[in-house]
Amino acid sequence: MASVVVRPVSCVRGRITVPGDKSISHRYALLAALASGRSTVSRYAPGTDCEATLSCLAALGVDIDGPHAPPDAHPGQRVVTIEGRGIRGLTAPTETLDARNSGTTLRLLAGVLAGHPFKSVISGDSSLSRRPMRRVIEPLSRMGARLHGLDDRLPITVHGAKLQGIDFTPPVASAQVKSAVLLAGLFATGNTVVREQHATRDHTERALPMFGAELVRQDGHIAIRGGQELHAVTVQVPGDASSAAFWAVAAAALPGSDLTLDEVGLNPTRIGFLSVLERTGTHIEVTHLASTGDEPLGQLRIRHGELRSFEIGPNEVPGLIDELPVLAALATHGGAMRVTGAGELRHKESDRISALASGIRGLGGHIEEMEDGFHVLGDRQLKGGSADAAGDHRLAMAFAVAALGAHEPSEIHNAEAVEVSYPGFFSVLDTITR
Ligand code: S3P
Repeated sequence: MASVVVRPVSCVRGRITVPGDKSISHRYALLAALASGRSTVSRYAPGTDCEATLSCLAALGVDIDGPHAPPDAHPGQRVVTIEGRGIRGLTAPTETLDARNSGTTLRLLAGVLAGHPFKSVISGDSSLSRRPMRRVIEPLSRMGARLHGLDDRLPITVHGAKLQGIDFTPPVASAQVKSAVLLAGLFATGNTVVREQHATRDHTERALPMFGAELVRQDGHIAIRGGQELHAVTVQVPGDASSAAFWAVAAAALPGSDLTLDEVGLNPTRIGFLSVLERTGTHIEVTHLASTGDEPLGQLRIRHGELRSFEIGPNEVPGLIDELPVLAALATHGGAMRVTGAGELRHKESDRISALASGIRGLGGHIEEMEDGFHVLGDRQLKGGSADAAGDHRLAMAFAVAALGAHEPSEIHNAEAVEVSYPGFFSVLDTITR
């Protein structure tokens, strides 16, 4: 699937159940591996990122069964069972651990391995190899582990050790860094405290108590006591809000659209994009359902309304960091979007500012690049053309959503990147376009 042609459509209509949440699946798998007993995780996220977490855990001695499900099965049927090895029960790997494209696998696993008394090496693909790692190396080293990378990059060697708790304020808003330190805190003596200046996704803080760990959360501070045991759980992962965002934006962008998205995770730290859609004049109905685990869940109905221009400032960025590319796609359909304080985008699966700008221009759009953001002007309909996903799953899907509103068909190159989080994305697209 190197290139995919996306044709202009008049609207999107129908009903979709998105796959399980990627961020939450990683965390449940890691905690299940550290727990005592057998955990069952259903609706485990498809895609190579969450597969990477399972294969790294298997290389660390964890017995894993699944996920088993035919490709067209309901997402809830993707069940994984994980035989927990207990705290410090992982065994030294005989090979390099391959996190592939997954920053979450790499950084969270580094936190876990910091507390295990053996040496491990973690590597990844070329995209992951250019992403900054000092942000986890530094706090985990302060806790007592020895970590080193090749000039802040992969591969990272982790020499686990006896850890002590630290009081840590992450210099960047990052849920991966926060989670790496909290997970290491499980193995440390004393308390580990993380103080967030900007709230980021809080799935780790919600998941730890579910597995039996006590945690204190107050005014952006999270404290965990070391030496606690975890127990196994049976849990269902909610639908991925970031995957749902592509469909929500497609419906917001195209007149006459009406989409229902079932069983979507509605964790407040993940749904900043809904507030933005509301500001543009999109009609949104949210029906809350019972939580799964400690994660809120609901149904979204999204209908096209207006397409007003919108701005996103630094404070809003952490709550919609992964949705910025698709929100840029929205602005190519009309109105305008300006985002600032989003320099972190340059350190994602691609440099998401420059690769996004090239792709939007390639489709015939108008975008100005800034060091810490961009400005999209939807002052003319896209002509259609070609865009390179640059190995980045979220860019492949964002370009597809932009291309739906073009005059002519467009080609998305390297579209196989969707396999990272949403295999089947283009088949679902075919079922809802009119
Ligand atoms: C994630 C955190 C975010 C996000 C990534 C998933 C997580 O990264 O962009 O897609 O699961 O913790 P940062 O922590 O680097 O901001």
